[in-house]
Amino acid sequence: MQDFPCYLVRRLGDGAIQARVEQIGLAQLPPGDVLIQVAYSSLNYKDALAAQGHPGIARKLPHVPGVDAAGTVVESQADHIAVGQQVLVTGCSLGEDRFGGWSQYVRMPSESVVPLPEGLSLFESMALGTAGFTAAQCVLAIQQREIDPQRGPVLVTGATGGVGSFAVALLAKAGYEVVALTGKQEQADYLRTLGAAQVVDRSALDDGSDRPLLTARWSAAVDTVGGRPLVNILRSTQHRGVVAACGLVAGAELPLTVYPFILRGVSLIGIDSAQCPMAPRLEIWKRLASDWKLDYLDTIARVITFDDLPASVEQILAGKIVGRVVVQPQAAVVPAASPSGDAS
Ligand SMILES: NC(=O)c1ccc[n+]([C@@H]2O[C@H](COP(=O)([O-])OP(=O)(O)OC[C@H]3O[C@@H](n4cnc5c(N)ncnc54)[C@H](OP(=O)(O)O)[C@@H]3O)[C@@H](O)[C@H]2O)c1
Repeated sequence: MQDFPCYLVRRLGDGAIQARVEQIGLAQLPPGDVLIQVAYSSLNYKDALAAQGHPGIARKLPHVPGVDAAGTVVESQADHIAVGQQVLVTGCSLGEDRFGGWSQYVRMPSESVVPLPEGLSLFESMALGTAGFTAAQCVLAIQQREIDPQRGPVLVTGATGGVGSFAVALLAKAGYEVVALTGKQEQADYLRTLGAAQVVDRSALDDGSDRPLLTARWSAAVDTVGGRPLVNILRSTQHRGVVAACGLVAGAELPLTVYPFILRGVSLIGIDSAQCPMAPRLEIWKRLASDWKLDYLDTIARVITFDDLPASVEQILAGKIVGRVVVQPQAAVVPAASPSGDAS
């Protein structure tokens, strides 16, 4: 097979990070028993960090970002995955320890490959991608702890982001009164279209005090930002409420007291989508393709090619993206030279 384009991140001799479209060969892909021709990948916050050579995500350079990929199997040594089958991968080291989905081909162990569920197209699966899958895990965590819609409003932070948009949409679809917290008031109409009952400015969450408990407002929350906003949510969650936490764009520190836990019985649930075991993974994808299917995924997601990645990476790191960005692994100009990078 001829070399193919990918978006490769490498360290130059002077220590600077370079990220650009380059040609690589199949021999440079990591080992695995399934080779997938990628139709779509996506842009997640994590991918933007990897595109800048962040060592917490791009563990080794050179590296290809992209924690999501969907496409068609072109080689398989696994009994349960057939050549020609449409599949998707989210997380499972893709785009972190292994070359990721910003490439025309990815190679993965079959244990991480999800058959495309009936009811979803390849595009739709990547419009959802890690963001939709993570939001669905958060909603499931809330439902499994018996938070019924009658219990009161559910807060979503980072509401216009990838995970936030899907959290708003899935919670509204499940009948919850969703309060969308955002730094982009100009996107209030977008958030209402997704099902938000109220759109509140991000600054309204913080009363500036250090009181251990605030007025109890939320029956539950999906927090995509961490830091001080997560502290404020925990201080203002109702008795026996549930907070599903998955992100850190506002900070990784959590300076709070134990009072929300021991006086109000609040539960803080951690969500990790990348290493979610296969049984719940398959179940969640099945639901995203059936009773949780959103029929306006093309409102939330737009498609870009490799050429648009540098600008989109800057935008997501600045918190300016609205909704989801699906990446088609194509470029207007692809250099002929092959890199010297090893498989990752
Ligand atoms: N645990 C997991 O399995 C998992 C999976 C996926 C993502 N994540 C994490 O979840 C977070 C969101 O990911 P994403 O892909 O949805 O990113 P994203 O599309 O960039 O969304 C993040 C949103 O957070 C808000 N925001 C940005 N900077 C902020 C700040 N300083 N303070 C408060 N809010 C801020 C913005 O929304 P508004 O303007 O609307 O406020 C922004 O659009 C990231 O930390 C990511 O690493 C975790």
